[in-house]
Amino acid sequence: MQRIDGREYFEGEFTLPGDKSITHRAIMFNAGAEGEAHVTGALMGEDCLSTMECMRTLGAEIQTDGNALHIKGTPSFKQNQQLNCGNSGTTIRLLTGFLAGKQTQATLFGDASLSSRPMKRVAEPLSLLGAEIQTTDGRAPVHVLSKPLRGAKVDISVSSAQVKSAVLLAGVSADGETTLTEPIQSRDHTERMLAAMGADICVNGNSVTVKKSKLHAVDVCVPADISSAAYFMALGALKGKTLCKNVGVNPTRTGILTAFDKLGVKYSLCNRGVSGGEEKADILVEKSDMRAICLTAQDVPAMIDELPLIALLCAFADGESRITGAKELRVKESDRIRTTAALINRLGGDCSELPDGLIIRGKRKLCGGDMDSYLDHRIAMTAAVGMLASEKGGNLSRGECCAISFPDFFEKIGVNLG
Ligand code: S3P
Repeated sequence: MQRIDGREYFEGEFTLPGDKSITHRAIMFNAGAEGEAHVTGALMGEDCLSTMECMRTLGAEIQTDGNALHIKGTPSFKQNQQLNCGNSGTTIRLLTGFLAGKQTQATLFGDASLSSRPMKRVAEPLSLLGAEIQTTDGRAPVHVLSKPLRGAKVDISVSSAQVKSAVLLAGVSADGETTLTEPIQSRDHTERMLAAMGADICVNGNSVTVKKSKLHAVDVCVPADISSAAYFMALGALKGKTLCKNVGVNPTRTGILTAFDKLGVKYSLCNRGVSGGEEKADILVEKSDMRAICLTAQDVPAMIDELPLIALLCAFADGESRITGAKELRVKESDRIRTTAALINRLGGDCSELPDGLIIRGKRKLCGGDMDSYLDHRIAMTAAVGMLASEKGGNLSRGECCAISFPDFFEKIGVNLG
């Protein structure tokens, strides 16, 4: 249990951990490619360690030195392995597609949370390419059987980078051409990295086409994760001034900045650059008076992981905010519509659930209160921000799960783990 006191002021310059999505991909794709690659700035969070262990089990050699990785790929994976994906949806979904493409038979499983999350969403589109993926009542464990694949046209009804990536990874090894179309473009790290690795891939709006290609290992310099920086950006907006350094600002990930624009949060980007085919910048955020906002389905993919935090900001804003079109939140590491509403109400706010979103009646101040993380890293970190920004603070149980994406989170916000 962590005691988190409310604070008058929060200020500082922060270097945040590497991007989780990019780290997963740098490990997985290089581990299945020809050649050797060096990855710097990698996130050593539990989810990425799950990907690393799976790829080692499949035969790749991966050496670590702090946040640097050296990967020697294995273009043909070992057969019939049991792969523990831990808590990580990205590991299990992307790897299912990658293995299907390599005609590798394997079983993928995970913890209680992962075992409750939907897997048909990858099994069904992959079956259109000829893959045979057996789920356990639509969930993990997932068995990938060895079948030759042929390219196909795949339309998915809910935007998802995980599903899109699974199909593209299978498509890279399928005969012919595979085109995936999603309703609104989700994060495009897979497309960028596959292109850098020499894949024949073409993006056209919300559609991506990939042809059978050989992947060559590529060095990756991972920027800081905007989803981790978001907690420090929010603390700047609520309580003072924060500067987050070297943050990935790929436009498919910057929905939090769109939310800031609507809320009236003062921020600026400087030191812009590009590394490993991904845009990055320093982000300065200052204390701001916030107004209520309305977010709809169009806004959701670019801010999917930040929505609990954005809802918390709405609780500190003036007026009634409405988030809709975010049903996907119900199938994340926890049911984040339910757990976000519980979080805000526990801290003294006023939030109600919609089937696909939240209504938050802003109060400008929250008194604070005690709560549990529901073993969801993003809920734990959002709760910590809420407590810190509240009048009396609170006690957070099971906050250690932040190690999934941000192992030294509490140290960085200055909370004693004692
Ligand atoms: C991710 C995609 C998103 C996101 C998750 C990471 C990825 O999931 O919520 O944290 O790295 O591809 P969905 O594709 O299920 O929306």
